[in-house]
Amino acid sequence: MKNTQLTVNKRPAKTIDTDLLVYCLAQEKDKAPKSDAFIQDLVAKAFDLGDFSAKDQEQLLFYPTTVNIKENVRARRILVMGMGKIDNKKELSIVSDMLRQVGGNVAKVCEKIKAKTITVCLPDLAHLGAEKTAQCIAEGLLLGDYRFLKYKKITKKKTDYIGLKTIRFVCEKAIATIRKGAKKGVIAARAACEARDMANEPGNGWTSKEFSNYAKTLAKTYGLTYTCLEKKQLEKLGMGGILAVNQGSAIPPRMVILEYTPENKTNTILLVGKGITFDSGGISLKPSSGMEEMKYDMCGGAAVLATMQAVGEEKPLVGVVAIIPATDNMPGGTAVRPGDIIHHFNKVTSEIVNTDAEGRMILADALAYGVKRFSPDCVVDIATLTGAVIIGLGHHHSGLLSNNDHLAKSLILAGKEAGEPIWRLPLTEEYKKQIESTVADIKNVGGKPGGTITAAAYLSNFVGKTPWAHLDIAGTAWDFTEKSYIPKGPSGIGVRTFLNLIQNWKKGGLT
Ligand code: BES
Ligand code: ZN
Ligand code: ZN
Repeated sequence: MKNTQLTVNKRPAKTIDTDLLVYCLAQEKDKAPKSDAFIQDLVAKAFDLGDFSAKDQEQLLFYPTTVNIKENVRARRILVMGMGKIDNKKELSIVSDMLRQVGGNVAKVCEKIKAKTITVCLPDLAHLGAEKTAQCIAEGLLLGDYRFLKYKKITKKKTDYIGLKTIRFVCEKAIATIRKGAKKGVIAARAACEARDMANEPGNGWTSKEFSNYAKTLAKTYGLTYTCLEKKQLEKLGMGGILAVNQGSAIPPRMVILEYTPENKTNTILLVGKGITFDSGGISLKPSSGMEEMKYDMCGGAAVLATMQAVGEEKPLVGVVAIIPATDNMPGGTAVRPGDIIHHFNKVTSEIVNTDAEGRMILADALAYGVKRFSPDCVVDIATLTGAVIIGLGHHHSGLLSNNDHLAKSLILAGKEAGEPIWRLPLTEEYKKQIESTVADIKNVGGKPGGTITAAAYLSNFVGKTPWAHLDIAGTAWDFTEKSYIPKGPSGIGVRTFLNLIQNWKKGGLT
């Protein structure tokens, strides 16, 4: 991945040699928005003409050499970005997302004008604070500047734009706080972009092997503990779910585990991510139209792995364990059949009615194993689990199901702060009836009604009493709500929500 540099300096901005100098202005009531003295006249003129009033995401681009500004400016262009009306009553999560979108829109302008170096004069938003302001703009810039060019020839030409090289933040005060926020933003955005990179790899470019290789590298870089359960060990441990899903595949399954243990560990959060590197449906084959998108069926695993990269950088106070059960789901002479009965890690038996409901089968083993081996204080799994969640929530909320109100609340808050909205669905006893089997303990599908909920009901058999939450990201892992910092393909969803959950974790338990 490209390594864009971000530095923080004191003003004045006009002395800086840069492709683009950016100002972020709030909309004022019936007045020209306020700006630095040397461009205030220009902004006021644009306001008088009715061209610019700093509405949310409104843009004004000009060239210092062609307009009359009072002082010498070394920047080749100046971009004024509107932030809309800001008052102390505005919800902080909304202000945060507005700033991320400002960052994303600036990145879009940069692509258009092929700007490589930019300087951003940070706005002073007292009620959000300098740290969060810097973090959100940094996130928006880096997430908006994302592109996946690995398999494109054109990147080899020197003239092609490959994104931002350096970002400079300038401010008047609170430089240390701003540095801290900017660093947080860079770490979070880089991790989310890594998750996007993994997801953008095709089924032949990202297999269970790549998951384990990536985890191994993270472990070396950040001093994490790496374990990979190979096929033989999975057999020995009785992980019938992941083994069954893998039966039709030419690539062996792997259960990849990373552990981060802080010096004075109090609690452990366990994260489990669905790592289906391609979901053909197996014998219950999916229709061919759109099947290529099923290379994204590992987005949960990618989110969990990328989160560990940020955890390695940030070294939070709480322990974090990541488990990624990884395999593809293929048909073939050796593939698992509808009607087959399997034994999961915790000895629960399951009748496989539909081989396309494979995510819950691999997660079941990973959850049961993780809960037993690590005794975590809570476990969160994340998975592109059901098409039904798209019917229910569209592409704007991830689905949440949980056995614990505290954990559910913390996750909803973490998602809100990240601009990754989450909506909770009920998980009551009635739904569990739908997955009762006549020949085994449970079956892997519960019919059409409440498909997202019955999938979670299946998983609930593998977590015991541990506080657990399940995020269904089938509608948001790609095709997520269109925004300047969300690309068309994989969104990298989950990473920044998890980082918030981890950072918000209070000593001694759930907040
Ligand atoms: N990976 C799919 C879910 C999915 C569908 C993700 C569309 C993203 C977009 C999952 O493995 C699956 O196939 N689920 C089935 C379950 C059904 C057979 C009970 C589904 O949703 O149709
Ligand atoms: Zn499937
Ligand atoms: Zn799947």
